[in-house]
Parts: sequence; structure tokens; C-alpha cells
Amino acid sequence: MTKWQKSDWRAKPRVQMPDYTDAAALSAVESQLSKYPPLVFAGESRRLKAHLGAASRGEAFLLQGGDCAEAFDQFSADGIRDTFKVMLQMAMVLTYGAKVPVIKVGRMAGQFAKPRSAPTETQNGMELPSYRGDIINDLAFTPDARNPEPKKMLQAYTQAAATLNLLRAFSTGGYADVHQVHRWTLCFTESEKAEAYRELANRITDTLDFIKAAGVHPDAVHTLRSVEFYTSHEGLLLEYEDALTRLDSTSGRWLAGSGHMIWIGDRTRQPDGAHVEFCRGVLNPIGLKCGPSITSEDIKILLAKLNPENETGRLTLITRFGANKVPDNLPRLIKTVQEEGANVVWVCDPMHGNTVKTNSGYKTRSFNAILQEVRDFFGVHATEGTIPGGVHFEMTGQDVTECTGGLHDVTEKDLGARYHTACDPRLNASQSLELAFLVAEELSRFRENQPARATI
Ligand code: PEP
Ligand code: CO
Repeated sequence: MTKWQKSDWRAKPRVQMPDYTDAAALSAVESQLSKYPPLVFAGESRRLKAHLGAASRGEAFLLQGGDCAEAFDQFSADGIRDTFKVMLQMAMVLTYGAKVPVIKVGRMAGQFAKPRSAPTETQNGMELPSYRGDIINDLAFTPDARNPEPKKMLQAYTQAAATLNLLRAFSTGGYADVHQVHRWTLCFTESEKAEAYRELANRITDTLDFIKAAGVHPDAVHTLRSVEFYTSHEGLLLEYEDALTRLDSTSGRWLAGSGHMIWIGDRTRQPDGAHVEFCRGVLNPIGLKCGPSITSEDIKILLAKLNPENETGRLTLITRFGANKVPDNLPRLIKTVQEEGANVVWVCDPMHGNTVKTNSGYKTRSFNAILQEVRDFFGVHATEGTIPGGVHFEMTGQDVTECTGGLHDVTEKDLGARYHTACDPRLNASQSLELAFLVAEELSRFRENQPARATI
């Protein structure tokens, strides 16, 4: 086989990508982006890969979450902070509840391009191209707004760089110090679970006081003063990904410099398509969304193409079948992966198979359906003897009303109150925290029935 080149995807069939009309404008943007610094470094992606390898062995657990689509007009420090905060809270609940290190990965700092179920949208008799995320076109329903505009890639890069900068500052600058565990609560998340979180935070504070009183050397607690937080997004807009791909001088391999981890969507995983071609050549950990339509033939080819050396932590299978569809689909996928002897991390995305449209026209997801899919995921892995390695959520730290249910019981009637997503409905902060407690229960039950494991 000839050596992989980062532009090889250009000769492959592409789906879900815009047809830019102005070729000169596109190549000017690509050339500009290719001179900008990468957003992440190869050593970080390799480290995340090692952590994911630990998750595949049951020695760590992945928490991946954030917006369905980051939006230019919702970009703010408070928004980033609040999502970061809820993820820290959720991670704390999981770490404490299930006694397992949690790998924190945001759908942040690059989650801008969206695959769509239809190429066009019709409103009041007018048909226009679908909205494909702020990196491509605008949500407003006018011909101009829906025209794909290459320059938006530069704005996305700037927003991603500023987001990552703030995330890095929060992670290491004292904010994420576990001694601050009480400060991560959000003022509007008053609920039974907020109370449960406060109790858990009290127990952690007691433990920290004990450690200090026992005279443990400060170096030993150094790791409690910061967190590792990684970024991820769907590697959908390949012109953007290609322009940010750089040669890593340490390993002589290529790094997708746009984020620590990228994933291939359920609509773009054609074994001979452009997205698989691009992702197979970069060293980053790769996610692969697996929906009900995935066949064993496809998964076999994809395992071989995306992880030819069968490296642990390289490939994460993010299953998203829908509530009640897990028992029919997950065992057959597990069987194929086992037949191939492939190393994968099994992760549950209980969001994308559970989207429904209400009569009033809102896309929503029910908390119960989400929970059902999570429970079935753990149940099937327990039966099959495989390891549930993590969860993947669309969520926000904001007090939105986009998914129904949860302790505050958001109803269909409430959806209009604070429905802000640019694409799919997200769990709000309170629903996210509630789900973390429920996942912690499932995970600790699973782990109690397992032989003792090492941890990272
Ligand atoms: C997504 O994660 O936003 C998404 C579009 O998922 P999927 O490819 O699984 O439908
Ligand atoms: Co989505």
C-alpha cells in the first residue's frame, strides 16, 4: 500500500460536506489555516489514547460531553465555564461513586460541523440548503445565510483556540482543584441531586482534611490540584481537518491538530469514503459512531482500516442505537468485534438514537429513554463479558429546556421556554448531574461483579 497522504481523502466519495462555490476563496482559507498553529499537540493525544486504553480494560471510564453544535452567537466565557463545571461535577460523582478514574473529554473547541438527515429544508413553500453548523453556513432561513462560506472556518478556528485556552486555564489554574469541589455547583440546579452532590462534596472535603492532617506530603496531592481535560469533535469538514493536520516530529506520524480526539459520524462511516480515509491516517484516538444500520461486513473493514495495528485506546466504538434497540444490536456488534480480536473502547451515546419531534415542532429526547439506553448498555456488556468504557452526552451547563423529564420534570409544554440549541436537544445541568448519579450506580454495580482491576 502506498504511504498515506493527508489529502488522500480528496479522491474518495464524500458525503455530508458542502459544495463550496467559490474555489479561490476556499483555497485561500485552507492555505491560511495551514499556517496557523495546531490547537493540540501530539503528546496530549497520545496520552489520551493511553487513558482510553485503560478504559478498554476497565481501569478508567470516559465521560465525553458538550454541545451538539457549538454556535458563534452563543460563545461566552460563562457558557464554557458552566459546561466545564457540570462535567467536573459529573466526573466527581462517577469517580466517587464507582471508584474509577474518569477521563474528561469535551465536545468542545471544534464541534461546529453537522451532518443532516436531509440536504434541504422547506419552510412556507421555500426550499433552501440545510443548516450544517456555524463553520459552514448560518441557521437563518435565507438563501444568503444558507450558502456555505469558507471564511467561517477561520472564525471557528479562533473560537476553538479561545475555548481551549480557557479550558486549559480552568484545568490547571486552580479552578479545578478538588479542594474547590463545593464551588462547582451551579446556582440554578437546586434539586435532590444537588443536595446529594453537596453531601458527596462534604465527604470529599473530609477526606482531604484527613489527608492533610495525616501529614501526606504536598507533592502527593499535587495531582488533586488540576485536571486533565481533553477536546473532541466530529471530524466532518475535511478541508478544515486537513489544513490543521501536522507532522509530529517525535513519531513521524500525522496529527489532526484540531482537537485531541475526533470521531466519524454514523452518516459518514462508509468504509471507502473520504472520512474513513482521512481518519485512518492520523495518530489521534478515533471514535466511530455505530447506529442500527451498521453491518458486520462494514465493521470488520472499519476495524482493519482504522486500527490496523490493533493498538489499545486507538478506536472507540460509540454505540447509539436508541432505547429498546440495544439488545438487538449491541450483542451482534460485540460478537463481530470479538471474532476479529479487535481492541476497542465501548462507549454509549444514549442521545442520537432517541431524538423525537413533538407536535409543536421541537426536536426533543426523553430523560427516561436516555436512561433506558444507558441501562441496556451496561446490561448487555455484563452479559457478554465485555467492558462498558464510557458515556457520551449532548449536554450543557446552561439551564435549558430541550430534553423532557428528569427530577424537575421538563414537559413538552416547557420546551419553548429556554430552547437554545443550534441543533440537537441537550441535557441541562440538573439532568446531567442526575444522569451522572444513575450512571455511577450502574457502573459500580458492574464493577462489584468484576475481578479487581488496576487503575490509571
Ligand atoms: C452527533 O454526535 O452530533 C451526531 C450527529 O451523531 P451521529 O453521527 O451518531 O448521528
Ligand atoms: Co447531535
